[in-house]
Amino acid sequence: MSGVILVLSGPNLDQLGRRDPALYGTATLDEHVTRLSEAARARGYALRHVQSNFEGDLIEAVRDATDCVALIVNAGALTHTSWALADALATFAGPVVEVHLSNPAAREPFRHLTTLAGVVAGSIAGFGALSYDLALEAACRLVERGPDVAGS
Ligand code: DQA
Repeated sequence: MSGVILVLSGPNLDQLGRRDPALYGTATLDEHVTRLSEAARARGYALRHVQSNFEGDLIEAVRDATDCVALIVNAGALTHTSWALADALATFAGPVVEVHLSNPAAREPFRHLTTLAGVVAGSIAGFGALSYDLALEAACRLVERGPDVAGS
């Protein structure tokens, strides 16, 4: 398999590494992206990464992703507020995997709502850096096997 996988990072994720490391870990966003790019390349995919603190930029990045075979999204706090990003993601043709470093369901009540839930294939949360690795694995399997992602 081959193709481009878009990784979309929302507001404040550019602060990873110094933003509440006890919750989000010590790795920077660049370090996550470098690790994921290498893992993607080993599986025959190229990674494109877009980070923005602005909702409209993220929406346009989704629209521009017509050449991508899958999309991995950590929308940060927009996860809990942005119906506009959900609408944009609903138009993406390939699988969308939602990812979070922390486990929003175990945090403040406002984080329990995800506007993206209805438009993603699935969500991986709470495993720190491993969440991203698992999200990439899920995205690749969805591209290669469709919804039946189980098996080696
Ligand atoms: C986050 C969880 C969100 O609730 C928060 O607003 C973030 C990071 C995560 O990766 O754990 O910015 O998406």
